[in-house]
Amino acid sequence: MDYIDIGEIKTSRLALGCMRISDKPIKNVERLISVALDIGINLFDHADIYGGGSCEAIYGKIIKSEPSLRDRMVIQTKCGICSGRYDLSADHIVESVEGSLTRLNTDRIDILLLHRPDTLMRPEQIARAFDRLERDGKVRAFGVSNFSARQIEFLQANIHQKLWVNQMQLSPVYCPIIDSGINVDRPQEYCGADGLLEYCRTNGVTLQTYGTMQCEFTEDSGYVYCGAFTAEPARSRYFALNFRLQGLAEKYGATPEAVAIAWILHHPANMQAIIGTTLDEHLLAYKGCCDVKLTDCEWYEIYKSAGHNLP
Ligand SMILES: NC(=O)c1ccc[n+]([C@@H]2O[C@H](COP(=O)([O-])OP(=O)(O)OC[C@H]3O[C@@H](n4cnc5c(N)ncnc54)[C@H](OP(=O)(O)O)[C@@H]3O)[C@@H](O)[C@H]2O)c1
Repeated sequence: MDYIDIGEIKTSRLALGCMRISDKPIKNVERLISVALDIGINLFDHADIYGGGSCEAIYGKIIKSEPSLRDRMVIQTKCGICSGRYDLSADHIVESVEGSLTRLNTDRIDILLLHRPDTLMRPEQIARAFDRLERDGKVRAFGVSNFSARQIEFLQANIHQKLWVNQMQLSPVYCPIIDSGINVDRPQEYCGADGLLEYCRTNGVTLQTYGTMQCEFTEDSGYVYCGAFTAEPARSRYFALNFRLQGLAEKYGATPEAVAIAWILHHPANMQAIIGTTLDEHLLAYKGCCDVKLTDCEWYEIYKSAGHNLP
């Protein structure tokens, strides 16, 4: 596993997303966390709203039953989405963190992200909340998610802490933050994509990717598939991509899933990939991702095989 620093915190380049862990029995989640730690993952991504708080709660139960695990983990959580609206007021941010600390059975959040930009955000309120959380030792590092370059710039100019992270959706099949910079034929799918990569690279903001393996489509029968593009029925639909991933997997002695993550990690923006699997056997497929060193040519082959055309 490779690691990068978020501020003073050493974090694995592959992270485990905990958005669906409350769907599983606690024994399975314990096994999932154990496998994650075994393969070198130390960054675990949460949010106050995942499972209505139950994802943090089940994770907190595991920490309570095995307190020595806590120091092997970097816990990241998010706040700011409330039922049907956003709330980045000072009171809400602080209350949300207090709730996460209680559910997670911990005295500190390692990294706190604002989950989505709020058009009504008042940066002086965010500054007040961040100052208090930092002073009280409740949060060690701060960041955002789904923010455009302009929104990060705006917030950063008005707070005292550095914003270290921006978490965004990115995968070979869904990549507006890349397309917007290089592919003039593609329509702009995501309004915050333009110039974001370059902003983050210039300003030392680490991009974390979510939806890294995810795709979504509706069959003629009305069946809605939402899962990895490397698994059926998506595998057949993304035939060219999976054919390419399989070929590179054979070349590198890895799995196609590890090659898909290597595609994220190869980008010189030095990103981190978040994986949202809930199954330890699926998680093991990513084990060798940092050992796959793609060439630039292979990177573009994967990009194009996912349906993105270039001249
Ligand atoms: N900041 C935000 O706005 C935001 C939004 C969404 C998510 N997130 C974070 O990002 C994390 C990951 O997002 P995501 O859920 O979209 O994750 P993802 O890893 O891209 O997709 C997860 C889906 O793919 C399946 N999957 C993953 N690996 C597989 C494998 N090897 N074989 C077969 N199926 C596989 C999973 O099913 P199984 O569980 O059966 O493996 C699940 O259905 C979340 O947990 C959350 O922490 C953040």
